[in-house]
Amino acid sequence: MALRKGILLAGGRGTRLHPMTIAVNKHLLPIFDKPLLYYPLTTLMLAGVREVLVVSDAADLPDLRQAIGDGRRWGLSIQYAAQVGPRGIADGLLAGADFVGGAPFCLALGDNIFFGHGIAEILADAAQGALENKAVILTQTVAEPRQYGVVKLDDQGRPVLLVEKPIDPPSNQAVTGIYFYDSRAVEFARQLHPSQRGELEITDLNRIYLERGDLSVKPLGRGIVWFDAGTAQRMLLAAELVQVIQSRQRTGIAFPEELAFRLGLIDLRAFALLVDDMPHGEYRAYLETVREEFHVPAKVQQ
Ligand code: DAU
Repeated sequence: MALRKGILLAGGRGTRLHPMTIAVNKHLLPIFDKPLLYYPLTTLMLAGVREVLVVSDAADLPDLRQAIGDGRRWGLSIQYAAQVGPRGIADGLLAGADFVGGAPFCLALGDNIFFGHGIAEILADAAQGALENKAVILTQTVAEPRQYGVVKLDDQGRPVLLVEKPIDPPSNQAVTGIYFYDSRAVEFARQLHPSQRGELEITDLNRIYLERGDLSVKPLGRGIVWFDAGTAQRMLLAAELVQVIQSRQRTGIAFPEELAFRLGLIDLRAFALLVDDMPHGEYRAYLETVREEFHVPAKVQQ
């Protein structure tokens, strides 16, 4: 069995990005050359997910659907579901209860960006944990843990404490926005109560697993870059990093077309056609270099 399903959360108020988010859903704002949502979407693809449910406010679903589509051109199935107001990440998960239907799944926050050496192996390993009746979270050492969920580990690397945005952080291990769950997650999420800020907290769901001894923590090493692009400052930093890597190393980050091809979800012909159909610009120019790597000449334009 493989973990095939993923929930991609694209709701929330986006208030920290006001006024950019008055008319546009935060996840459609750009990180350098592509919409923010492309980054967690490709992370899900790397984790083995092939069926995605995008969850957002009902009013934003038409724009998201227009930007992302049904996934077929990338060898995926992408569906959409509404969350009734930004009532928390675990509430967003519950909007996907019918979609997951008792299968293990991955939950990705729509504003989290991951890349770096070995990320595919780490994600595959985490997905395996969910298939073995655990919840798996990925963590990274950060300078400012107060802005995140924070986990404290014992000297064997086992989690002993989880706190959401602590004033006095018990460690500097931040919980990143990608979570792998076994089939019990929906049932546990239904037992949660809103926090003081009125949200169903993902940290409370993870704490249920922790208390049962079923939470596994995988620290991301220094070779992996993780960004939560929830503020203008961090969006800019993420964009700069993507730009530097893409231009210096000619390695694309978060191009769903390229990844679909490299993962074998679409064949070379389908990939070449996707590139042909694209308007000219830097995004297409990068994909043309990938296509040429496989000896398909660029179509001569009339
Ligand atoms: O980025 C990692 C952090 O994400 C974790 O360390 C925290 O434990 C976790 O609570 C979360 O904290 P944030 O304060 O960054 O969450 P935020 O409210 O910004 O929402 C994160 C994403 O989830 C964002 O893409 C919007 C989406 N979302 C959020 C809420 C509250 C929804 O789709 N629905 C919601 O109701």
